[in-house]
Amino acid sequence: MKDKIRQLEEEARADLVRIDSADAADVFRVAYLGKKGKLTELFKRLGAVPADEKKAVGAELNRVKQWLESAVEGFRQKAPNKGVPDAAFDETLPGIRPPQGSIHLLQQTIREISGIFNRMGFETVEGPEIETEFHNFTALNIPLNHPSRDAFDTFYTTHGQLLRSQTSPVQIRVMKERRPPLKIIAPGRVYRPDTVDASHSFMFHQIEGLMVDDRVTFSDLKGILHLFLRELFGSSTRIRFRPHFFPFTEPSVEVDIQWGKGWLEILGAGNVDPHVFEEVGYDASVVRGLAFGLGVERIAMLRHGINDIRHFYENDLRFLRQFA
Ligand code: PHE
Repeated sequence: MKDKIRQLEEEARADLVRIDSADAADVFRVAYLGKKGKLTELFKRLGAVPADEKKAVGAELNRVKQWLESAVEGFRQKAPNKGVPDAAFDETLPGIRPPQGSIHLLQQTIREISGIFNRMGFETVEGPEIETEFHNFTALNIPLNHPSRDAFDTFYTTHGQLLRSQTSPVQIRVMKERRPPLKIIAPGRVYRPDTVDASHSFMFHQIEGLMVDDRVTFSDLKGILHLFLRELFGSSTRIRFRPHFFPFTEPSVEVDIQWGKGWLEILGAGNVDPHVFEEVGYDASVVRGLAFGLGVERIAMLRHGINDIRHFYENDLRFLRQFA
């Protein structure tokens, strides 16, 4: 038994010099003093020691126990753990900078266009993306048999509602809520069940414009859109007004800008049709208005040479970072 104790003492001495952390001290404590520890096992054999040796062997074991306990305690206090916060934390090091986001090109484009109109006195308003047939079609003088009402051209939800296919219903909402004079623009998402390809998406963005007063003419429309397009595309931009048809404007035009050798359609516009004023309860013999609508993606693609509309929605940082 005495040999066993001496052997254990030697082992313990060898193990003790290798302790380099509080964790290692704990491992040592369990290995020798734990329930199944080496020293504990020797204590268990004390019962088998002859009665006349018991006292001396017991004293030996207790001496070793005290030595090991005080050694472990000493190491625990002296050897700090690697990774323990107060030892590892250096408050003089610079912090970790979180990655910085940026404004999406579509949102930048909306802000830039809105800014031009805001400076001309147009107020930015918003309308809901889930609309009624009344606001999206009927009040805009769009007849019941018009193809745009077809389920192939509009997403219908439930309870006679739909995902707006244009921002023009915001015209109706604003006119029903307020009285002229009005000068508003309304940016937002619109939805159409188009098959997605390089130039089509089931969701895209438009900006609607509406001005209503007692003396708003077609030349106001021309002047405002001229100013806007030259602000956006440059002061030498050539602009063309081409006759067109929209149910909610009369006369109606599509506006093109010169692009290389050809012309590119940029927006739809016109003077507000008197039928629309009647729908919102305005006196159509007194008020006059102008309205326009443009596609945000199309303008952003033109200005930045983007050849695929899907880039806007795929959240690919290689694309987005170019406009950060
Ligand atoms: N809402 C029309 C479209 O989506 C654009 C437009 C708006 C035309 C306002 C005229 C006046 O094509």
